[in-house]
Amino acid sequence: MTANDAAFRDRYGPWAVVAGASEGIGAEFARQLASRGLDLVLAARRAGPLEAFAAELRSRHGVEVETHAVDLADADSVRGFGREAGTRQVGFLVYNAALSLIGRYFDHPIENRLRELDTNCRAPLLLIDALVPPMLERGRGGVILMTSLSGIQGTPYIGNYAATKAWNLIFGESLWGELGPRGVDVLSVLAGATRTPGYLANTAGRSTAAPVGDTDEVVNAALAALGKRPSVIAGGANKAAAFLMTRLLPRPQAVRIMAKATYKLLAR
Ligand SMILES: NC(=O)c1ccc[n+]([C@@H]2O[C@H](COP(=O)([O-])OP(=O)(O)OC[C@H]3O[C@@H](n4cnc5c(N)ncnc54)[C@H](OP(=O)(O)O)[C@@H]3O)[C@@H](O)[C@H]2O)c1
Repeated sequence: MTANDAAFRDRYGPWAVVAGASEGIGAEFARQLASRGLDLVLAARRAGPLEAFAAELRSRHGVEVETHAVDLADADSVRGFGREAGTRQVGFLVYNAALSLIGRYFDHPIENRLRELDTNCRAPLLLIDALVPPMLERGRGGVILMTSLSGIQGTPYIGNYAATKAWNLIFGESLWGELGPRGVDVLSVLAGATRTPGYLANTAGRSTAAPVGDTDEVVNAALAALGKRPSVIAGGANKAAAFLMTRLLPRPQAVRIMAKATYKLLAR
């Protein structure tokens, strides 16, 4: 372990929780945290892929990895998971899982829309409540909330998802200002289109104009920004796109551009 890794583990370890960890961006967080010597508590719904991934991390990095098959849309399950994870000395939380429903607003039943809120907003609230107070007592720790460029302006056809991502952006930035001075670094990470199994399934057979990045770019940007700023946009092209959408274009035009891009994702 390098001196930098040891310092990272002292600051944010010894255990990290990654919620939504078996594939995509969450799996890359788990890999990079394990490579820095943190022991891991990982959660996802499907036990099989999660356990196979945990075995790979144990053998490659020699860290302890605990797995929990849990549906983060279910409040009681999240509370139970938070209680169990909290029996470890957790110094780091990555909330990564998300439900993103694509479609015309009224094509999805309200139950699914509520599930989107529960997965993307209620679960991180509950886990922060369970895991951050002990970090504050120790005066050290970190929290990462995954959000999205869809959350910086209105985004038709994924409006509820985009709004949950706006919530994660503002909530994380707010906690950065409040908890940072008490030793707990909070960071909201804005990803653009990123090559993950979830993204590939949503875009299969459709042409999207967005440049697609890789998961390691997102996690590298996140870990480099942690403790330094309240939020970070992963990737140069995404930074330029965000500047265009929020600083240069009039708001109606920005929303119309998003509508054109997301319309291509609709099932026809
Ligand atoms: N990929 C992109 O293009 C992109 C762009 C912008 C922002 N983001 C954000 O980045 C984050 C990660 O995205 P992603 O594409 O890597 O993957 P994702 O499909 O959102 O999440 C993948 C991981 O989360 C788990 N998961 C999903 N729903 C869960 C639930 N209800 N309970 C427990 N675990 C759950 C999955 O395992 P199981 O299926 O086994 O549960 C898997 O391990 C999300 O917050 C997303 O909003 C992604």
